[in-house]
Amino acid sequence: MSDANRAAISVVGSLNIDYFTKVQTLPTPGETVSSRRLELFRGGKGANQAISACRQGAKVYFFGCVGEDEDGVAYRKALTDEGIDVSHLNRVSTKTGAAFITVDDSGENMIVIAPGANDRLDIDDIKAGRDVIAGSRAVLGQFETPLEALVEAATIANKENIPVVINPSPIKPEFPWHLIQTDYLIVNEGEAVEVLGFAPLSEGEATLRQRLHELRVEYLIVTRGSDDTLLFSRTGMSETIETLPVLPVDTVGAGDSFAGCFTARIAAGEKMEDAIRAANCAGALTTLGAGAQDPIPDYEKVDQHLDHLSSKS
Ligand code: RIB
Repeated sequence: MSDANRAAISVVGSLNIDYFTKVQTLPTPGETVSSRRLELFRGGKGANQAISACRQGAKVYFFGCVGEDEDGVAYRKALTDEGIDVSHLNRVSTKTGAAFITVDDSGENMIVIAPGANDRLDIDDIKAGRDVIAGSRAVLGQFETPLEALVEAATIANKENIPVVINPSPIKPEFPWHLIQTDYLIVNEGEAVEVLGFAPLSEGEATLRQRLHELRVEYLIVTRGSDDTLLFSRTGMSETIETLPVLPVDTVGAGDSFAGCFTARIAAGEKMEDAIRAANCAGALTTLGAGAQDPIPDYEKVDQHLDHLSSKS
C-alpha cells in the first residue's frame, strides 16, 4: 500500500533492549536463582506498539529517544526496515533503555526497567513534530517516557480533534488526567483498579460513568488475558468482546500488540468493536512466540483469525 493510502498515526513512547531470562520460580528478595537461558530482543512498550500498528497497515511516526550506542543505531535501523518513520526518534548521549525480564514456568513475570535514553524525551521534541501529530489520524502513548511529553502530544491532538489512545503502563499515579481528553483508555484488570480506584465490574454504572467523567476518558477498554475484553463508555454503554483462545508461550508484549492494532484500525476508520476484536486476535497471537516484537502479527494474519472467530460465533 502506498504511504498516501495508509492512515497516519503518531506513537510517543519507549524503546528498550529486553534481556529475557526464564526460571522455574521467580526469586524472592535476597534470593539468587539461575536462568536456563538468556535472550536479547528489541522491546519497549512504545516500539512494540508502533510495530503492531505498522504491521496493521498504519503509517507510523515514532517519537522517542535512543542512545548514541550500538543498540540505538541498530534499533533505528530495525524500525526503518519495518517501515516506521524515525525522523522524530532522537539520539541522545546516554545508553539506550533496557528491560530485565524474568518469566517463571507458570508464565508469571517480573520486569525491571533501566529507562536510559527514554527519560530524555521532552516537550520540545514533541513540539518539533507538531505538524506530524496534527496530521495524524490517532495518537498513541504509554507511560515509559516522561509524562509531560505525552501530555503535550495529547494536547496537540485534542486541539485538532484527533483521537488519543492511552495505555497507562507502567502505572504512574501522578498522571494529570484532567489536563487532556483521552478518547480510548486501554488497561488490563490490575491497571483498571489503579486508575479508577475500583474494579470496573464491582461498582454500579453511575459510579463508573462519574469516574470516567472525572478522568476525561470517553471509552474504557479492559483486556483480561484469555477472557473476553470489556468495553465501557462515559455515556453508560458496556459490551463484552470475544477473544481468541490460545495456549500462550510468552505473554510479554501482548498488551502492546493489542494497543497498536486497535489504534491502527481505529485510525483506518474501523468500528470500535471491530477494532477491539482484531486487537484481541493480535494480542493473543503475540503470546505464541518468544520476545515482544517477532510474534506480532500482520493485518492478513489477524484477519484470517477473525474469520475463524466469526465462523465460531
Ligand atoms: O510490554 C512489554 C515491554 O515492557 C517489554 O518489551 C519491555 O521492554 C517493557 O517495556
